[in-house]
Amino acid sequence: MKQFHPLTIARLDRETKDSVRIALCVPDEFADEYAFLPGQHLPFQITVDGKKLRRTYSICSAQGEMPLEIGVRVQPGGQFSEFAAKQLAVGDTLDAMPPSGQFHISLDAENAKDYIAFAAGSGITPVLSMLKSALQNEPNSRFMLFYGNRKQSTTMFIEDLYALKNLYPERLQLHFLFTQEDQEFPIMSGRLDADKVRELYAAFCTGLNPAAAFVCGPDTMIKTVTDALVELGLAPENVHAERFGVPRKGSKPKSAVATETANRATVTVIMDGHKKEFEMRRADENIVDAAADHGIDLPYSCKGGVCATCRCHLRDGEVTMATNYGLEPWEVETGFILACQSRPVSALVTLDYDKI
Ligand code: FES
Repeated sequence: MKQFHPLTIARLDRETKDSVRIALCVPDEFADEYAFLPGQHLPFQITVDGKKLRRTYSICSAQGEMPLEIGVRVQPGGQFSEFAAKQLAVGDTLDAMPPSGQFHISLDAENAKDYIAFAAGSGITPVLSMLKSALQNEPNSRFMLFYGNRKQSTTMFIEDLYALKNLYPERLQLHFLFTQEDQEFPIMSGRLDADKVRELYAAFCTGLNPAAAFVCGPDTMIKTVTDALVELGLAPENVHAERFGVPRKGSKPKSAVATETANRATVTVIMDGHKKEFEMRRADENIVDAAADHGIDLPYSCKGGVCATCRCHLRDGEVTMATNYGLEPWEVETGFILACQSRPVSALVTLDYDKI
């Protein structure tokens, strides 16, 4: 099982008025474990007022670059982000699990591909990693970024993006959109919604055949942008999305409610080659919390169905998932589940955390 390790803060810089950039050193003995694919994230754990908090932040470094960098936007009332921005200092350590996540780009130096990305706010962090890595490692590929923010002064990593544009003038196209600042061209004003995507695509992407599109931003933006891209002719399997933040909880799905009256289930967990077993009521909140009640610490971070830190393979039995924003369709089809969102439907359930 992936474990938390303390990573030392090598640099901590203010990125914008409400965001910081943190560079983390990985001890040599863990270098292999923290090797990452561009777009992946790190689950973090801190203790505030005796309470353990977990959050996930995307890596914004290029593939292979060390120290690892993350960008943290301070959310009003956000315990973790406020702690990171106000209390951490160079030389402190932050507990982080090795990288995970299926939102990533697979690179090959022989590729000559066009990539497009739509990022909003701090959704730029995984996209920045992809963009830098693609430009560095695929000399014949091109990258086009549409990046929405309120205004220039709140735009994270804007200097990095301009520097990359100087390095790769022919292969990188940058388009900044602002909602609260007038732009020279009206097309660059406003929100990244379906109409805007259609407008931008018609203006900048005609004749382009993107090999992949990457979309990262708040929940509200993801669906409209991905649907619009599919409508414009991109194959759904080539449109990849990652949300930040945990979507607002809706009502429980019917299948979950239906289990409220059912009785108990035995859950077997296979991890690092060992088996552990516990019993839970099928109506209990979720498998991760039920395991914790039995002293079994299963991996998790967001507990909102987004980060996929709790991803495991359902070897036997049946579960119902309340939400899933973290798994790709092929993962669901091949039996992967999010344990933080799952409740047993069958009386026996076996989860395999060793299967990748
Ligand atoms: S802990 Fe994030 S999806 Fe389960």
